[in-house]
Amino acid sequence: MATKSQTLVFVTHNKHKISEVSAITGSDISVLGMADFNFFEEIPETAETLEGNALQKARYFHSRFHCNCFADDTGLEVEALGGRPGVYSARYAGEHATYSQNVEKLLDEMRGVENRRARFVTVVALILDGREYLFEGEIKGEITRTPSGSSGFGYDPVFKPDLSDKTFAELGEDEKNRCSHRGIALRKMITFLKNR
Ligand code: IMP
Repeated sequence: MATKSQTLVFVTHNKHKISEVSAITGSDISVLGMADFNFFEEIPETAETLEGNALQKARYFHSRFHCNCFADDTGLEVEALGGRPGVYSARYAGEHATYSQNVEKLLDEMRGVENRRARFVTVVALILDGREYLFEGEIKGEITRTPSGSSGFGYDPVFKPDLSDKTFAELGEDEKNRCSHRGIALRKMITFLKNR
């Protein structure tokens, strides 16, 4: 069984994600970020799949610091766009695109499109005592016609999960965590850790 002293490093620079995952793990597992290791490099994400990128990031960090860690990769897959932006969600509107530029491009491409179906998929890659494990989470919903709400990040203002009439950005962190793609994948990982 996992003990209260179990520590894992979340291989991300994204503070939103660290606070999301810390809210989910509670006190059972303490989650550090890369900043706790004074590590501020951008880790390459050059794979063509979410699994490949999540593993690439976790392996990179593990090879440098040799500690238990996990990384995630998420894609927003829009039905009417043939699954795009998918693995390229962060760079949808260009290499250094901001969240709002990505949202703007998505709404542009979706202008006049009736089928708004989309899903978020997250893959979490865990390296624990040198072994690799993968966990996946998915949430289905639709792309709204205008942005709404101010919490969260990324495509949150334009993604409305099926179980709600609010966008992720209107839901707030706790409610989003309860149903989100990353929340689902992370809870699978936490259940695995607690049952070992
Ligand atoms: P990443 O692999 O988690 O960095 O996600 C890639 C891109 O997907 C991010 O740059 C965001 O634009 C988007 N994304 C990831 N997770 C979320 C989320 O929970 N809400 C909204 N957008 C997200």
